[in-house]
Amino acid sequence: MSTAISPTAYNYKVVRQFAIMTVVWGILGMGLGVFIASQLVWPELNFDLPWTTFGRLRPLHTNLVIFAFGGCALFATSYYVVQRTCQTRLISDGLAAFTFWGWQAVIVGAIITLPMGFTTTKEYAELEWPLAILLAIVWVTYGIVFFGTIVKRKTKHIYVGNWFYGAFIVVTAMLHIVNHASLPVSFFKSYSAYAGATDAMIQWWYGHNAVGFFLTTGFLGMMYYFVPKQAERPIYSYRLSIVHFWALITLYIWAGPHHLHYTALPDWAQSLGMAMSIILLAPSWGGMINGMMTLSGAWHKLRTDPILRFLVVSLAFYGMSTFEGPMMAIKTVNSLSHYTDWTIGHVHAGALGWVAMISIGALYHMIPKLYGRAQMHSTSLINTHFWLATIGTVLYIASMWVNGITQGLMWRAINDDGTLTYSFVEALQASHPGFIVRALGGAFFASGMLFMAYNVWRTVRAADPVAAEAAAKIAVVGAH
Ligand code: HEM
Ligand code: HEM
Repeated sequence: MSTAISPTAYNYKVVRQFAIMTVVWGILGMGLGVFIASQLVWPELNFDLPWTTFGRLRPLHTNLVIFAFGGCALFATSYYVVQRTCQTRLISDGLAAFTFWGWQAVIVGAIITLPMGFTTTKEYAELEWPLAILLAIVWVTYGIVFFGTIVKRKTKHIYVGNWFYGAFIVVTAMLHIVNHASLPVSFFKSYSAYAGATDAMIQWWYGHNAVGFFLTTGFLGMMYYFVPKQAERPIYSYRLSIVHFWALITLYIWAGPHHLHYTALPDWAQSLGMAMSIILLAPSWGGMINGMMTLSGAWHKLRTDPILRFLVVSLAFYGMSTFEGPMMAIKTVNSLSHYTDWTIGHVHAGALGWVAMISIGALYHMIPKLYGRAQMHSTSLINTHFWLATIGTVLYIASMWVNGITQGLMWRAINDDGTLTYSFVEALQASHPGFIVRALGGAFFASGMLFMAYNVWRTVRAADPVAAEAAAKIAVVGAH
């Protein structure tokens, strides 16, 4: 196979910038997670100040981990993958740089406005209209850079990872713009364009698909590139990946009403959401199996390669959370789990186990290549990170399962005379040990990120610009 080197090179600068910021925001977002988890153990940590109360810091945590950490990981990997699989440079360095600085500006805006109490009150869509507009502009630019690069690709076909990234970009734009339609009444206050049950339904159509397309489809794009690369095996079944793609995107969009069981939402909509969620198990597991089976004949590599371990364990947690989700969408199960810590456990099985672990694995694969090194500074530190992350996730979700089921059962326990057996405070007291274990698990996970930061810093410090330059050269055939 010829590998003629063309004079042009990939734009790795923007990939490096997003990759480094993924680590920075990861530490801040997860550190804040540990802090709010500690507030639930020691309420004194609210400090009696409005800016530091749980109610204001919680949305800052979710914005930092989802949009800052997760978002930067998705930007970094999608720009890397689209260039390498299309064998062409991003269409515009200027627009790519705009997405980087614009995205950081949105995050800084969140860090300033959320603790000050400026919020739309819609979960995961809290940012007030000026920031929401900036976000929309950045996102549309991202779409132009990504799809423009696909259009000028040198390869004939479009690798499946790009299909997933593409769907994530298009649907996120649609969700964000529709859900944010609102009437501004001042610079920091707006009212939703929708009212009542319609507002709730649109919000959870957004909310669930933020999970489905931001926290899942984008990361599946990552999975389809980095798992085969790290395992040095082709994807198990290309045909399955196409079925996986179409089934996943067709079903996810209908599942939102499972967040609104037993509410004023029409009953048929709740049942539809439940049915679609149960069917979603099939494509979710199809994708997981496709990733796992890629390791056929390469399982032994898990013994020595902690990066591969991150990727494979992330798929295991993906499988676990996408089994749990459909179960929780069943109305009778949801009547127990809703409002309890079970939901929080489910969220973090997906967020820590799947989203964070696959991102970390992908970064460990990518960073040495971006800086002209054969590998990360220390493999044993990656291993330490792996165990901290895995033990941290298990502690987090196991404590939340115990808490959730305890809370659900205590809230619904009724005496013979029809009065409640337990007061709310008794259920809260019973949850206290679980809160301690969760904070501990979170601290394990977050401290792993510090090891990562050190490892990345040492790798970057030892960067070899000449090798990095050579790696960024576009080989016309067989480059990816
Ligand atoms: C087939 C896949 C999945 C289904 C059917 C599903 C279903 C559910 C259900 C029924 C709830 C509880 C709703 C409630 O009682 O309020 C929920 C909550 C949630 N799930 Fe999933 N889930 C799935 C996968 C995932 C994954 C992979 C992630 C993360 C990466 C995730 C993140 C979340 C989040 C963040 C919430 C909390 C939303 C909120 O109330 O703020 N889910 N999910
Ligand atoms: C060190 C790691 C982390 C810790 C200690 C932590 C802790 C917490 C705590 C204490 C809450 C509030 C729970 C409550 O209201 O009872 C929370 C909520 C949440 N966290 Fe984290 N978190 C961590 C990492 C992450 C990551 C990496 C993500 C996403 C990628 C994430 C996504 C979320 C979401 C979506 C919610 C809202 C859940 C809901 O409303 O149902 N967290 N987290």
